[in-house]
Amino acid sequence: MTASELFDLTDKVAVITGGAGGIGVVYAEALAEAGASVVVADVDLEAATTTAAALSAKGHRVAGVAVDVRSAQSAAAMAQAAVDAFGGIDILVNNAAIMTDLPPYGLSNIPVDDWDRVIDVNFRGPLLCTQAVIPAMEARGGGRIVNGLSAGAFMPGGIYGVSKFALHGLTVNLAAELGGRGINVNAIAPGLVDNESAYVALPKDSEFREMIAATIPGKPSGPPEDLVGALLLLCSKAGDWITGQTILIDGGWITRL
Ligand SMILES: NC(=O)c1ccc[n+]([C@@H]2O[C@H](COP(=O)([O-])OP(=O)(O)OC[C@H]3O[C@@H](n4cnc5c(N)ncnc54)[C@H](O)[C@@H]3O)[C@@H](O)[C@H]2O)c1
Repeated sequence: MTASELFDLTDKVAVITGGAGGIGVVYAEALAEAGASVVVADVDLEAATTTAAALSAKGHRVAGVAVDVRSAQSAAAMAQAAVDAFGGIDILVNNAAIMTDLPPYGLSNIPVDDWDRVIDVNFRGPLLCTQAVIPAMEARGGGRIVNGLSAGAFMPGGIYGVSKFALHGLTVNLAAELGGRGINVNAIAPGLVDNESAYVALPKDSEFREMIAATIPGKPSGPPEDLVGALLLLCSKAGDWITGQTILIDGGWITRL
């Protein structure tokens, strides 16, 4: 097998939640360039449709659909839409999350409604979407699930960090449960991403951002495009033997022993 064949996604169907967001659009284009048909699923249907139209105009096979990952019914409708559009599902990227509109509380005083709001999207959402796509993946002999984690999972980071650490646990557990059914489950945990959402939480030229960057041994930050190599690895033949792993892409910010 040649190097390009290892990463080829021709005839594969990929569904990406939050596909109209900053990282989602880059992921959708990368999966399409690797040969996959792509379903861009987002709670913002207009943005999903616009993203799909822009990628289709470049010659890719892309559909935009609505999903609210908090709802099992909506996740099931997303999976059905993918099957209707492209005949099945091979890849799910659980990328949708709340990260720009986080409640301004520590864990010791967070109102339970705010806790639920973040957990419902960032943690329960990936579970519901996974449950929704499993039948379609099994019908094709297996599949790949990639969860959008964060380096923030591995440091004290309030509700956002907790939601992502929980998703790390879900990744490990689903990998154990689904391995025998041909489905690999992994996660990508980016560090300091250079995009608009990241700048909401940590402004571009803030002293705090610079202070963190100074502690990172390798490249301190990168654009969403720097995550694409790992995504293609985990979604393709090249990643056949990898499951239950969270890959940190963060310049060595987090060291997990
Ligand atoms: N940007 C960063 O610095 C960074 C760093 C580490 C991890 N991440 C993770 O990467 C992923 C993407 O981040 P981003 O920067 O593209 O964020 P973003 O805010 O630009 O995009 C998030 C997308 O999710 C969608 N979404 C929100 N709630 C939804 C719901 N209930 N159902 C369906 N879709 C919903 C939004 O409409 C949006 O399109 C997230 O999981 C985030 O936690 C981002």
